[in-house]
Amino acid sequence: MKNQIEQLKKAKNAIILAHYYAPADVQEIADYVGDSFYLAKIAKQSDADIIVFCGVQFMGESAKILNPDKKVLMPDLTADCPMAHMVADSVIEEMRAKYDDLAVVCYINSTAELKCKSDVCVTSSNAVKIVKVLPNKNIFFIPDHNLGSFVAEQVPEKNIILNDGCCPIHAKITATQVYAEREKYPEAEVLTHPECDASVIELSDYIGSTADIIAYAKKSEASEFIICTEDGVDFKLITDNPDKRFYYPNPHPRCAAMKLNTLAAVLSVLEKEDKEATADEDVRRRALIPLDRMLELAK
Ligand code: 13P
Ligand code: SF4
Repeated sequence: MKNQIEQLKKAKNAIILAHYYAPADVQEIADYVGDSFYLAKIAKQSDADIIVFCGVQFMGESAKILNPDKKVLMPDLTADCPMAHMVADSVIEEMRAKYDDLAVVCYINSTAELKCKSDVCVTSSNAVKIVKVLPNKNIFFIPDHNLGSFVAEQVPEKNIILNDGCCPIHAKITATQVYAEREKYPEAEVLTHPECDASVIELSDYIGSTADIIAYAKKSEASEFIICTEDGVDFKLITDNPDKRFYYPNPHPRCAAMKLNTLAAVLSVLEKEDKEATADEDVRRRALIPLDRMLELAK
C-alpha cells in the first residue's frame, strides 16, 4: 500500500498532511506531520494539486477555506471532532449583546459556521499569544472550556468568558490517573495538552500543544515522561527519543475519529479522489477572515 500511495502521490502532484494523532503508519508516509497550527500553515502555502488531509473534519475544512483552488481530500469524511459543534449560535449572540467590545475567540476545533461568527481563530499553540495582543478586554472563548480556562490563567488582565464545550478524550483524563502513573514513575515529568481539565494542568510540569509537547520532551534532561494527550503522539516521541520512556494515563487517551485515517483509506481516496472537503462559498469567505487573522497575529 505504501508503494502504491507513493506512486499515486507523484502521478497526481498530491501531498499528504497528517496530524500527530493519525495512526503511526500514516504518519510514516505523510509529507508533513504536525499540530493543527503547523498543518493549517502548510495547507495555505502548498502548491500541490491535491492535499490529502489525515485529520478530522475541521482540519480538512480549514485547509479548503485557506486554499480554495486545491482539491482537499479526507480519507474518511465521517472523522469528526465532537467539540467542533459544542456552542450554540444563540449563546454567541447573547454574549455579543451583553458586551460592547467583545471578541469571540474561536478554537480552530470548530465548524466553519462557528468560525463565521468569530473574530479570530486560535490553536492550542498560539491561543495565549493571540488573546494577549487583541485590543478587546472581554473575550468569549469558544468552544473549549479547558483551553479557555488555561488561557484565562495566563492572561489575567482580560475578562475571559468560558463556554462549556470540551474534548471528550482529554476531559476523561483525571488527576487520579496521573497520580497513579507518577507513583510508578516518580522521576517522570508530566507533559499535558491544554484541553485537559484544570486539575490535571495544575499537577503538570509543562503544558502545550502536541508539537510543543514533542519539542519539550526532546530538549528536556528528563528520561521519563507521563504524556497527557492522545497517544498518537507516541510515534514521534519514540522516533525522536529512542532512549527516553513515555507513559500514558490508563486507559490510554485515544481519538477514534483520528484513527479512521488508515493507510487503506488514504490509498482509496488517492485512487478515487472521491472524499472532498467542501465549504459553501459564502461560508468559506466569512470563515477565512478569522483564520487569516490568526495566521497574521501568530507571526
Ligand atoms: P494540537 O493543536 O495540539 O495539534 O491539538 C489538536 C487537537 O485536536 C487536540 O485534541
Ligand atoms: Fe477533537 Fe479531542 Fe479528537 Fe482532538 S482529540 S480531534 S479535540 S475529539
